[in-house]
Amino acid sequence: MTRSAHLAGIGSFLPSCRVPNAQLAARMDTSDEWIRTRTGIRQRYFAEPGTTTSDLAAEAGARAMKSAGLAEVGAVVLATTTPDRPCPATAPVVAAKLGLAGCPAFDVQAVCTGFVYALATACGLLAMGCVDTVLVIGAETFSTILNPADRATSVIFGDGAGAMVLRSGHTAGNGAVGPFDLGSDGTGRDLITVRAGGAEQRRSGLAPAPGDEYFSMAGREVFRQAVEHMAQSARAVLGHVGWQAGDVDWLACHQANLRILVRLADVLGIPEARVLANIAEVGNTSAASIPLAIDQAYQAGRFKAGDRLLLSAFGGGLTWGSTVLTWPDLTHP
Ligand code: COA
Repeated sequence: MTRSAHLAGIGSFLPSCRVPNAQLAARMDTSDEWIRTRTGIRQRYFAEPGTTTSDLAAEAGARAMKSAGLAEVGAVVLATTTPDRPCPATAPVVAAKLGLAGCPAFDVQAVCTGFVYALATACGLLAMGCVDTVLVIGAETFSTILNPADRATSVIFGDGAGAMVLRSGHTAGNGAVGPFDLGSDGTGRDLITVRAGGAEQRRSGLAPAPGDEYFSMAGREVFRQAVEHMAQSARAVLGHVGWQAGDVDWLACHQANLRILVRLADVLGIPEARVLANIAEVGNTSAASIPLAIDQAYQAGRFKAGDRLLLSAFGGGLTWGSTVLTWPDLTHP
């Protein structure tokens, strides 16, 4: 019998340092009005000094495990662009912080698409019978790679973490996750990148150029490609699962920019009222954004069992991916 993956628990965590637009406008050439109208963002959260991605990931992971009623899981998969160190991966540290030392744990790097890639990876582990439960986390301390001199990126990103526990099952229906549509285009890697710090720059024998150690993005081109690829990918996954746009109760997309979410919903023919959007409150939290948005909507009581969610993301790589999820009857809120 084909094994499937089911959502068994969910949780999220935000660091305590709230940064309203006005605080950024006080130290760089921008304004609350520009940020709100161009991105929909009113505030974001930055991790306190000393707090790293593994700290946020462990908090979100603990909440998801509590929601699933589990003290242990079979594996930990962490999606992040901002690992604690370039080497080793951060997931084993998260597992150790959760008292799960010994279980398989590894990172997935697909920037803002990371959580969808990590979910697909977890579904593969479950389908192959490697484990019966997987903790899938998206966590970022994006503030650590933002260039304080670059107003175009500094105002967009925030820190945070979200997590889901997936459990193996044998049926479709409530809780089922998948199928997936995933893709990449490495010819676009310069559009979203941190140029320095990897083998390419070290092999060049040259010191990093000023600013190259920070995140950079060609915002306008990314905007265009984000809408195009998410729409294509979302349509592909709807085709795989046999749903029409009208069957989707919630569009749960990567929170890149409010205007991207609105445009995508319009292109897909999904009413704006069905779009999950928490970007105003948390900014773009990259790999954390989808589970964070879904958990906040869950905590606010917006879902009922059987609701159909369409998840879609686009990010550096370039990468993109989509999946679907039928909301489960979670018993440990
Ligand atoms: N405050 C004020 N002005 C700013 C600014 C800021 N924070 N950032 C850029 N500007 C200026 C630019 O310098 C430019 O000025 P100019 O016209 O005098 O040259 C003007 O605003 C327009 O810049 P542009 O980059 O074309 O704006 P935009 O409407 O495309 O919005 C983004 C910029 C970044 C908000 C938008 O492109 C975007 O959201 N892109 C996708 C981001 C994303 O999703 N990234 C995550 C990867 S999935």
